[in-house]
Amino acid sequence: MEKTAVKRENWGSRIGFIMAAAGSAVGLGNIWRFPYLLGENGGAAFLLIYLVFVVFIGISVMIAEFAVGRKSNRAAVGAYKSKSRNWTFAGAIGVLSAFFIMGFYPVVGGWSAAYVAKTFTGLLADPAAIGDSFGAFITGSTQPLVWMLIFMVFNVVIVAKGIAGGIEKAGKILMPVLFGLLVLIAFRSLTLPGAAAGLGYMFRPDFSAVTGQTYLAALGQAFFSLSLGMGCMITYGSYLNKKENLANNAVLVTGMDVGVALLAGIAMFPAIFAFGMEPAAGPGLVFVVIPTVFSAMGGIGTILSLIFFVALTVAALTSSVSLMEVAVAYFIDERGMERKKAVYSVSAAMTVLCVLSSLSLGSMSGVTLFGVGFFDFFDILTDKIFLAIGGLLLCVFVGWFLDKEELRQELTNGGTIQFGLFEAWYNLVKFVIPVAITIVAIAGIASIEQ
Ligand code: PHE
Repeated sequence: MEKTAVKRENWGSRIGFIMAAAGSAVGLGNIWRFPYLLGENGGAAFLLIYLVFVVFIGISVMIAEFAVGRKSNRAAVGAYKSKSRNWTFAGAIGVLSAFFIMGFYPVVGGWSAAYVAKTFTGLLADPAAIGDSFGAFITGSTQPLVWMLIFMVFNVVIVAKGIAGGIEKAGKILMPVLFGLLVLIAFRSLTLPGAAAGLGYMFRPDFSAVTGQTYLAALGQAFFSLSLGMGCMITYGSYLNKKENLANNAVLVTGMDVGVALLAGIAMFPAIFAFGMEPAAGPGLVFVVIPTVFSAMGGIGTILSLIFFVALTVAALTSSVSLMEVAVAYFIDERGMERKKAVYSVSAAMTVLCVLSSLSLGSMSGVTLFGVGFFDFFDILTDKIFLAIGGLLLCVFVGWFLDKEELRQELTNGGTIQFGLFEAWYNLVKFVIPVAITIVAIAGIASIEQ
């Protein structure tokens, strides 16, 4: 009965849970995606909209996911199903999202792992060539696939064991290392001549560039970065013990996630402007800016670059295992599959999707779905559509189908702790967030068609 023993295990400690939830939240979304989205969407205006969404939507949705998971004691699909079979589809959308996100996430995780090795083999030797070599690398047909596979194997090994020991420990050590390094890079970046322009770009809003799409991008990023809208935090909440304060934990995890994203921005934008690079460079931004900053630092830069990409790879890994776990938990819980078998089948399917999305950046760039290659298709489909719909459905489920008093009991641990903002949270979830998501989605779609 390994299955039930592993599934319904509680987190060992409060810190263990927080590290796991923060490990899921803090990932490529913060360090790879957030800075380039900021760069593509006009800087400070995007940041402001993003923060508003995080505070008014993200935290509330995270509290709701924790509550649904802990109350039902089930992962995504089971949590919905335990209330009503009609809601099974909402959990299923989450599982589908896990597959699609895992259709491109390990490709980028592979790039990060590759850059650990490339730092050794002379990545930093010629700063002028860093941008070109990144382009050549990701459009290739062999190297990125090999690194994606290596990254995927790490996921398989960890998830097959159940998420015990190793990854949590690695996270506990390497997440603070990543944080420390970002502080260091931020310091270096801020002391470069011309750094102020980068800070201005990040913190001085210019609303003239804001369109419906900016709002949609910010909303999608809020869900993506906080691991919301696809059942991940429901699953993690289901392993949480009854004494934990759900609201406090949600605020803490959100705070760490935002902190790392801001730090990544402060580490990168001053350097981008100081080196005259392009802030709207897209997905290659971190892979070009960070090595360029380090290459200007001489020998010590090589070591720092090495540690940075190790830490980034680990941050990606603690997120991707949570994604894989959502799909795996579904096959174990609802299809009665044995864990190992579930992991192998799920990861095989994800690998096929990753091969398609990696090749779509190079030799298969001619193959498009709705006008974009596979990589962009999986990315846009999840982040701009599925996660927001998942979040909307969750709020409707919690606000309109669960009993308000039971929710109050869950959030106050049976009345033993205070949650003074319960009414505010409840009204946000029941009315404000569903309406807000709908408006942002419509505005976003309308502005795409223009
Ligand atoms: N939050 C992760 C990141 O920022 C990605 C993720 C999304 C993980 C959804 C789990 C669920 O990289």
